[in-house]
Amino acid sequence: MISPQENIILVGFMGTGKSSLGRLIAKKTGRRFVDTDHLIVESQGREISTIFKENGEEHFRQIETSTLETLKPFSGLVIATGGGIVTRPENVPLLQKQGFVVWLQADEEEIFRRVSRNSKRPLLQTEDPRKTIADLLAKRRPLYAAVCHFSIDTTLLTHQQAAEAIISEESRRLSVQNRA
Ligand code: S3P
Repeated sequence: MISPQENIILVGFMGTGKSSLGRLIAKKTGRRFVDTDHLIVESQGREISTIFKENGEEHFRQIETSTLETLKPFSGLVIATGGGIVTRPENVPLLQKQGFVVWLQADEEEIFRRVSRNSKRPLLQTEDPRKTIADLLAKRRPLYAAVCHFSIDTTLLTHQQAAEAIISEESRRLSVQNRA
């Protein structure tokens, strides 16, 4: 019998490439790709920015946790998560139990460049998005570090290189676990 593939879960700040890298890893490993933000937009029938505007961040966070819970029965997924998923303590065990959690890192400068291309992100609609990024990153870095099983800095890597590194780390871990 072929054992089910474990999920690979990508966490990290906005603009660190969770969705594009997630799609690539899914393609390379034969997993199915899901993105918690997309699942929320589908289930709510509204954009994330509209949910923030109409119901506030806390409401969005509740939906985000319920969405994560709906993924519990599944294996063989690559799950891209929203950048703030680590801010709710109850999401930590959910993430860690559901798969191999990878923290995608990138330099602040690079994050700013990447998110500046898209004005959709509600948390960055501030007077000084650069400072908002710095403040949020300072708060969240320890949270990403605490939840992840593995971290990788993607600043200087192509998507192909980052995907290969994550896939080989996942196989290495599995073979260590199987030997134990
Ligand atoms: C958020 C990140 C967004 C989205 C929402 C909140 C955050 O996802 O979930 O706007 O708190 O960092 P991405 O990380 O995919 O941009």
